[in-house]
Amino acid sequence: MSTASPAARIFSSDNTAGTSPEIIEAVTRAASGQALPYGADDSTAAVRRRLSDVFERDVDVLLVSTGSAANALSLAALTPPWGSVLCHRDSHINNDECGAPEFYTAGAKLVALGGDDAKIDPEELRTAARHKAGDVHSVEPSVVSITQATETGAVYTLDEIRTLGATAAEAGLRLHMDGARFAGALASLGCTPAELTWRAGVDLLSFGATKNGTMTADAIVVFDRSLTAELAFRTKRAGQLAAKMRFHAAQFDAYLTDDLWLRNAAHANAMAARLQEGLKAIPEVGLLGAADANILFCRLPQQVIEGLLAEGYAFYHDRWEPGVVRFVTSFATTPQDVDDLLQAVGRHAG
Ligand SMILES: Cc1ncc(COP(=O)(O)O)c(C=O)c1O
Repeated sequence: MSTASPAARIFSSDNTAGTSPEIIEAVTRAASGQALPYGADDSTAAVRRRLSDVFERDVDVLLVSTGSAANALSLAALTPPWGSVLCHRDSHINNDECGAPEFYTAGAKLVALGGDDAKIDPEELRTAARHKAGDVHSVEPSVVSITQATETGAVYTLDEIRTLGATAAEAGLRLHMDGARFAGALASLGCTPAELTWRAGVDLLSFGATKNGTMTADAIVVFDRSLTAELAFRTKRAGQLAAKMRFHAAQFDAYLTDDLWLRNAAHANAMAARLQEGLKAIPEVGLLGAADANILFCRLPQQVIEGLLAEGYAFYHDRWEPGVVRFVTSFATTPQDVDDLLQAVGRHAG
């Protein structure tokens, strides 16, 4: 029987991890004294400057409390209600946001495309980007949304993003990136944040942070600053303009200080790589797809799934075909947590 603590056995998502101590300390510091509300405080302005440095150009930033809000508000700013959002069929916006993109866009249609590893197939995009464009009987292709890293843990290469970005631009479509795991993708690719976004054609980025160390703060990073005024109204109207924005800002300030965001992401990726290496050595386990960041899919015999569950391990196993399992690591996962899980898998595999 595993001696792992209950918390160490949770591999269902990276949002089960707590918060980096540096971020808690920053929030505590922000709690004393007064500050102007609704983002008019100095620390919110400082976060904009910091992210402008990170992305090597002047960006605007809207701090929000969830990744779904960042996605839905971004898409609403990029498409008219009669437009369509071209996305992967396995994308979070298509499957896991309760229709928020459709709701916030006032009815734009999500058009789901295929492709391996939850990456949009470039040929499918080429066709969809021009499908019935200009025909009033159909929705107008308006925006492409890609997820980096993808929902299955793969990472688009720079060339893949540039290709999709070029297709979008040629057809007059905008490009949105759901970066719930942006730091993980960056750590995996080793490129610059600018290369991964606006230099490849990205107009708006949902810059995730809650899965990688912050408590309650994600961001919309605006590269096309002509969208900022509209986004500001939309953010308030959606109830996402926090009166005490200074606490979101304090979290982001600490997140970006001394590369905490990149260190956390590199660690989460390393833990997934360790898990992948260990699983490779267990013949009963079949690895599925690319695990470039911190999400790993594999096929496990039923007795292993049941044995792990009986030991208190938590992971998704009932969302796909029987036997298909998802493990997610985070900045808080330790090498010991991974080794305990590997030992348990090996034991139940017999
Ligand atoms: C790819 C992706 N995008 C966006 C989100 C947004 O998450 P939330 O609204 O729960 O913060 C998630 C969370 O699981 C995600 O995995």
